[in-house]
Amino acid sequence: MDMRLVKALKRFCLITMCFFAAITGLKAQDFMVNIPNRSQISLNGKWECIIDPVDVGIKKWKSLYKDVPNNKDHRTEYAFISSNTLNVPGDFNSQRPELKFYESTVWYKKVINVKKKKGKRLFLYFDAVNYVSDVFLNSEKLGSHEGGFTPFQFEITNKVKDGENAIIIRVNNRRQKEGVPALGYDWVNYGGITRDVRLVETNETFIEDYFVQLKKGSGKRIEGYIQLNGSKLLQKISIKIPEAKINHTATTDHKGNAKISIDKKLELWSPSNPKLYRVIIQSETDSIEEHIGFRSISTNGTEIILNGQPIFLKGVNFHEEASERASRAYTKEDAKKHLNMAQELGCNFIRTAHYPQNEYVVRLAEEMGFMLWEEIPVFQGISFGNKKTVTLANKQLTEMLRRDKNRCAVIIWSVSNETYPNHTRTSVLKSLVDSCRVIDNTRLVSTALNKYEKKGNVFTIKDDLIEALDVIGMNQYLGWYNGWTVSPEDIVWKSEYNKPLIISEFGAEALYGHHGSNDDTSSWSEEFQETFYRKQITMQKNIPFLSGTCPWTLIDFRSPLRLHPIYQDYWNRKGLLSEQGYRKKAWYVMKAYYDTIK
Ligand code: GCU
Repeated sequence: MDMRLVKALKRFCLITMCFFAAITGLKAQDFMVNIPNRSQISLNGKWECIIDPVDVGIKKWKSLYKDVPNNKDHRTEYAFISSNTLNVPGDFNSQRPELKFYESTVWYKKVINVKKKKGKRLFLYFDAVNYVSDVFLNSEKLGSHEGGFTPFQFEITNKVKDGENAIIIRVNNRRQKEGVPALGYDWVNYGGITRDVRLVETNETFIEDYFVQLKKGSGKRIEGYIQLNGSKLLQKISIKIPEAKINHTATTDHKGNAKISIDKKLELWSPSNPKLYRVIIQSETDSIEEHIGFRSISTNGTEIILNGQPIFLKGVNFHEEASERASRAYTKEDAKKHLNMAQELGCNFIRTAHYPQNEYVVRLAEEMGFMLWEEIPVFQGISFGNKKTVTLANKQLTEMLRRDKNRCAVIIWSVSNETYPNHTRTSVLKSLVDSCRVIDNTRLVSTALNKYEKKGNVFTIKDDLIEALDVIGMNQYLGWYNGWTVSPEDIVWKSEYNKPLIISEFGAEALYGHHGSNDDTSSWSEEFQETFYRKQITMQKNIPFLSGTCPWTLIDFRSPLRLHPIYQDYWNRKGLLSEQGYRKKAWYVMKAYYDTIK
């Protein structure tokens, strides 16, 4: 090989390594909570872009912020131009046909006009970017974030200049063996700036974080903390709930933190009465408010107890996808559409699979009275033996809990989906469960398993991880991936743990409008799916320790794994609804079953 080429390749590798070494050192900060109610300017809209499949831009990022003129002596091959744009928020895969399964780098650029104000601080806040993002302001690297489903922010107060500033983001959605999720998953790897982007303004010392929920097991004690960020950390703070005649005051310590404990009988939140209170949190230099609900969640043997009463979780799963557009969902309207569909099905519970979904879904679900199972994308083949992977899983868990810990609708945190039992996996997941409880001991912790022992008609749930969980999640596809070796009414499920079981997934595929045999698994007929649901419900009714169930899924969704050219065509057809929202026959079976449960 030509020595010049060898030298060039070596130089490129060195530059690439330096780039990644440089960027990984700068991590995003802990983000502020309750972002919807902060003083902000939306940075949504058209962003200039460069589709960069082999990361040419890595060598040029310092000059990307300025427009380089072309003239007779100089030609710019690599540049942003105003006519080449992508919509933000929004995955890039669904915005251009040639990007349908694109998994590499896209550079984004937005020029903002800033007027700096004395005593104010400025932050760039991203609701989520999938999967790795490197953020620049003009020619300066702000930092990086890994993980496609949780917020992150960078303070730019002392980096931004008055007037025009260029925000530049390198986004790469390539799947990684050490990633979370890793290489294989049954949903489209929608890449890009997939959620809102905000320029947030705060006071010099502001209320950065707080936790305001009922103490575990209590129906009338609010406990938590308030955390300031800034130079004046020793302040008087107050938390007001006018409707409950609460006006509680405290003083923060030298770290800006104040614990709160307030005894008060409150109207408790529940699916039938999704009561939210206006909560106002004030310090000497800041004030923020939002609506917060209060409820208690616990277990008693194999029952799930909400506000002291057993409750059966009539659930459903859905991905964060706007199926009718075949794109990542990202608006309040998208959230409303899914939640209305879940309401029509008779649900009181939603598993937002398989990753923390956008805040519109979580907040709207709470307003509508849905209990939630939220989970991090520790999905199937995860490199549990890799330290970076475990650190990343912990970080995504911490970010999920940081964002949603004041959402009373969230009753379950889940640390994984269908990971295969072995010593390393179990010890890592137990450490994630512990992390959950350290940050928030008010909620239940679970995970979706999929292994069970079959002996004759007895199906036994066994997994060393379960001793660490409050609730057992079980994905089972009897009648779809595994045939009915025993007729449904004769199956006996056993568990050696005195804990509630949720069937966190069950489902079969049918192409809407396609009719045929009801007992031929390759028919993809609505009749087959309908019969599958009847058999599943028969079996599930016989499980004495079952406290909830979640069909997989509410609505057909796109997946690169679903390749049958007629029945699938890159769609997973397990929806009870077609991608256009039409009800398949099985939908009526599930609806009728939920109508029998109070
Ligand atoms: C698994 C997995 C889902 C997947 C489903 C299916 O249980 O958790 O993400 O889509 O099976 O096979 O349809």
